[in-house]
Amino acid sequence: MRNLLIFNAMQTPYYLYDTGLLRQTLEVAKLEAQLNGYKIHYALKANSNPTLLKIIAEFGFGADCVSGNEVKIALENGFAPNKIVFAGVGKTDEEIDFAISNNIFCLHCESIQELEVINGIASEKSKKVAIALRINPNINAQTHKNITTGTNQNKFGLTVNEAKYAMQLTSILKNINLIGLHFHIGSQITQMNVFRDLAIKAKEVEKELDPYGKFAYINLGGGLGIDYENPSENSIPDFKNYFATISSIIGKTQSKDIHFELGRSLVGQCGKLITKVIYTKQTDTKNFVIVDAGMNTLLRPALYGAHHKIENATSKEKLRESYSIVGPICETTDCFDDNVNLPTTKRGDIIEILSCGAYGEVMSSRYNMRDLPGCSFLENPETEIAMS
Ligand code: LLP
Repeated sequence: MRNLLIFNAMQTPYYLYDTGLLRQTLEVAKLEAQLNGYKIHYALKANSNPTLLKIIAEFGFGADCVSGNEVKIALENGFAPNKIVFAGVGKTDEEIDFAISNNIFCLHCESIQELEVINGIASEKSKKVAIALRINPNINAQTHKNITTGTNQNKFGLTVNEAKYAMQLTSILKNINLIGLHFHIGSQITQMNVFRDLAIKAKEVEKELDPYGKFAYINLGGGLGIDYENPSENSIPDFKNYFATISSIIGKTQSKDIHFELGRSLVGQCGKLITKVIYTKQTDTKNFVIVDAGMNTLLRPALYGAHHKIENATSKEKLRESYSIVGPICETTDCFDDNVNLPTTKRGDIIEILSCGAYGEVMSSRYNMRDLPGCSFLENPETEIAMS
């Protein structure tokens, strides 16, 4: 339970980021990657808040972008162009042009047509552009079906046969420099055997496509999950186990560079959504808490049925009750969770929705013409809250 005053400085709803925890997380991830000689690109799609981007860039991470605007914001916030990669099935000519003009490290190519378009644009600029082929390895990531990206039902990447054809083509496309392969099979992956399967498959595919070991670059994507059930006990994901799992199959970086694109695992636990109770209402069947954040502020529960831990930060009540926590949006799916056990909750209380640092702020919208959420940063939330 905390003092209501500290929350009054900001208009709710807003995202509150613990930059101290972010730094600790980055430190651990960087160290564990370095022990294996691996390189990490931060997947901007998880959160492109400029304050967080600057911190991540300071740690020396590269950037993984999926739009021209992500490339732009990465450059603006301190990521070196030669550490930026750009993936996506639908890169427009303008986006490709922008990436090439800014001399980014590598484009992850996802179709034969795209390869030809990249070559055409590079040729107009008299440049030779580094690309990696994104392979769809047909692996079930054992996560929510909507965030699975590497099965043959998904739109992403090339099959191994298409990649073989792409390789023949690159040998005649004069403005393409094929440097390696890219894989990404999904997000919020918590079972290490999935990463083991990915590493085995990547090794097999690499051997098949590049028997003489010419590729200089392999990117194994992101996907490492976080603990949404026990965020305070597991605030930093098990990067050691993750990299060790990959390393047990692929080995450490030797003749070629091995890269990763982590999003959620780097920023997921450092953000929470702060929202205020507008009304409480009891019907014959349910006990509703209506807050000022909605599916427009945090879309994950409505879109994926995602579970986020919810706490009442200000209630002093001893009695606990079961609540359905809902937002103000005119949609039935605008519900953060049902049967949430909280101390008796009243109008004006502050509710915290935890583990919202990834795919929270970045997926917010102005649906129902509501304002976008604000954001605030604390280097050490617990001390600063105690002092206030
Ligand atoms: N690389 C590529 C090519 C990706 O498509 C993704 C995520 C990542 C890296 C980063 O994955 P991560 O380490 O964050 O798992 N909006 C969904 C998540 C969608 C992820 C899509 N791709 C959610 O809220 O759960």
